[in-house]
Amino acid sequence: MMQILFFPFLLLSAVFTQQVQSVVKPGSFLTPTTKSSWPSPSGLYAFGFYKQGSGYSVGIFLAGISQKTVVWTADRDKPPVPADFILNFTRDGKLVLQSAQGVDQTRLASFPGGASSASMLDTGNFVLLNSTNRTVWQSFDYPTDTFLPTQNLSHGQALYSSVSDTNKSIGLFRLFMQEDGWLSLYPAGTPYVGLVYGYWGAGLSGQKNDVVLQLEDDGHLYLLNGAGDIIANMSLAGNPTKGVVYRLTIDPDGMLRLYSYDTNKNGNWTIKWSAPDNKCYPKGLCGINGYCTLNDLEVRCQCLPEFEFVNVEDWSSGCQRNFNAEGCEKDRYTMKPVPNTVWENDNYSIIISTTQGNCSEACLQDCNCEAAMFKDEVCTKQRLPLRFGRRDQSDSTVALIKVGTSTPTIDGYLPKESKKEHYRLNILIVGVSLLAFALVVMAISGIAVYRNRSVDFDLREEEAILEEWVYQCFESRELSKLVKNEEVDQKQLERMAKVGLWCILDEPSLRPSMKKVLLMLEGTIDIPVPPSPTSFLSTI
Ligand SMILES: *[C@@H]1O[C@H](CO)[C@@H](O)[C@H](O)[C@H]1NC(C)=O
Ligand SMILES: *[C@@H]1O[C@H](CO)[C@@H](O)[C@H](O)[C@H]1NC(C)=O
Ligand SMILES: *[C@@H]1O[C@H](CO)[C@@H](O)[C@H](O)[C@H]1NC(C)=O
Ligand SMILES: *[C@@H]1O[C@H](CO)[C@@H](O)[C@H](O)[C@H]1NC(C)=O
Ligand SMILES: *[C@@H]1O[C@H](CO)[C@@H](O)[C@H](O)[C@H]1NC(C)=O
Ligand SMILES: *[C@@H]1O[C@H](CO)[C@@H](O)[C@H](O)[C@H]1NC(C)=O
Ligand SMILES: *[C@@H]1O[C@H](CO)[C@@H](O)[C@H](O)[C@H]1NC(C)=O
Ligand SMILES: *[C@@H]1O[C@H](CO)[C@@H](O)[C@H](O)[C@H]1NC(C)=O
Ligand SMILES: *[C@@H]1O[C@H](CO)[C@@H](O)[C@H](O)[C@H]1NC(C)=O
Repeated sequence: MMQILFFPFLLLSAVFTQQVQSVVKPGSFLTPTTKSSWPSPSGLYAFGFYKQGSGYSVGIFLAGISQKTVVWTADRDKPPVPADFILNFTRDGKLVLQSAQGVDQTRLASFPGGASSASMLDTGNFVLLNSTNRTVWQSFDYPTDTFLPTQNLSHGQALYSSVSDTNKSIGLFRLFMQEDGWLSLYPAGTPYVGLVYGYWGAGLSGQKNDVVLQLEDDGHLYLLNGAGDIIANMSLAGNPTKGVVYRLTIDPDGMLRLYSYDTNKNGNWTIKWSAPDNKCYPKGLCGINGYCTLNDLEVRCQCLPEFEFVNVEDWSSGCQRNFNAEGCEKDRYTMKPVPNTVWENDNYSIIISTTQGNCSEACLQDCNCEAAMFKDEVCTKQRLPLRFGRRDQSDSTVALIKVGTSTPTIDGYLPKESKKEHYRLNILIVGVSLLAFALVVMAISGIAVYRNRSVDFDLREEEAILEEWVYQCFESRELSKLVKNEEVDQKQLERMAKVGLWCILDEPSLRPSMKKVLLMLEGTIDIPVPPSPTSFLSTI
């Protein structure tokens, strides 16, 4: 059996060794379109340019198999470069990515001094050596989303998932080798507080910071401590080795997977092991106010009732209210249940031995309460956003969400896509209107200054009257007067009018920043009621 497996791999190696020159000398260079990579001796791995989007990135990929899998990317968060860039291993031993005229230059591997040679190894490690053949830099020390046999992940080191299979920029999740010897999965950018953010871990209590993650070339994945003891096995030893390639990758969906690829079968990557057990466990896969559901192992995110996706194409951006949440009058709201869901429990008030009905009632009575969790006669009151939600049929927690009772606007019935278009158009209209308004004001003041060498009070007064009128329409909820005969969404119009009133305040320090304006228009943040323009007239 071993021999059968062995043979094609040798053949594969033979095919690729012919054109191989594994030691790269200073003065060599690569281009995306001519000589684009330096292969390892067997030809299995290569270092160089690979296509990403409409350009090229520099990295390490499996070149010897039909599925050209990328295992490492240099400067992963930088945009791809165009085809006229070169990767220059300069005469003084530096690895530089530069534009055609050399204007734009980035040093890829940073280490003191220069290297005497570079080498793509058959392990998938790209190394730079000094004149005594000692490694001065290796890609294995700077992992991206993939971990390979013979690589070490020691305390303080992490793998970060990619945005997607085709975009290798840093995504949502990370695998971290902790100081306490635990290997853990977390959302990227959260503190290492296991109980709150961690969604998987392997290890043994009482270890020091000398624990290292190891992967053998037979797919054995384990944690080894400084004394040489295996403290945790994740995947077992004894799998085929010859002609089979293994890799551990933290995937864009937050799952950690050990894959194998049998070069003899020229087939696909097969999953040998994965963690955690449930594809909904990765925290933050669904953004705020959304929760994860599993249908036939297919992951889906859903929004809280009467909420909608901020971006239907990107679930991780979360969900926002689809109703007006201003004011606190009890009769404007009702509580909607989301059964069998678990969330981060960030309560501010707890009521014990109560009923679900009384829990709802307690939340409705409380202006600060935006949601409540009910389980085993315990009611906990919460504020939005709710995070890390997922359906769990075995958990009896009911999330109770405070939603508006007012009839949805026409907007609420539009299909999501056209709604988004609608919204973009609105932003455009309000942007253009604000600009036009600003220009008119400038023109008026300009003319006035030119004529009288001082600001003309009549014109200023007229402007103030216009502002006043808009404000009155807003106050009396008659904004439709502003857009006679045009079919517009009232909710959006009100939002825009409010933002507009804030933006034209005479006192600059009171005007919101552009960023805040955008968030307000999006509905991401609530817009406070603007002060009446008249209250500031006296200061003119
Ligand atoms: C590589 O960089 C060196 C030093 O900056 C430069 O002299 C050389 O022309 C570059 N090589 C190529 C092929 O552009
Ligand atoms: C470094 O390695 C190269 C090729 O692997 C070899 O030719 C050279 O003699 C070595 N140099 C030293 C100083 O060991
Ligand atoms: C090569 O690197 C090793 C290890 O970093 C160092 O000890 C040695 O002095 C270096 N040799 C030269 C010639 O720089
Ligand atoms: C991994 O760690 C071992 C033990 O410290 C070391 O001998 C080996 O060189 C390391 N491997 C890499 C690729 O750095
Ligand atoms: C990759 O994703 C990042 C983050 O979402 C984005 O900024 C970048 O433009 C994407 N790159 C490509 C090549 O699509
Ligand atoms: C892990 O697996 C190795 C080899 O299969 C075995 O010798 C060892 O006892 C296992 N250790 C633990 C902690 O399960
Ligand atoms: C590889 O995967 C694709 C899609 O997942 C499937 O259609 C194809 O049959 C697989 N090929 C082999 C050899 O397993
Ligand atoms: C209330 O929230 C705190 C964290 O803020 C949590 O530790 C506690 O378990 C929660 N209580 C209940 C009854 O859920
Ligand atoms: C629920 O509310 C009703 C009416 O306020 C009250 O009579 C009843 O005792 C409450 N039940 C519990 C279990 O708190």
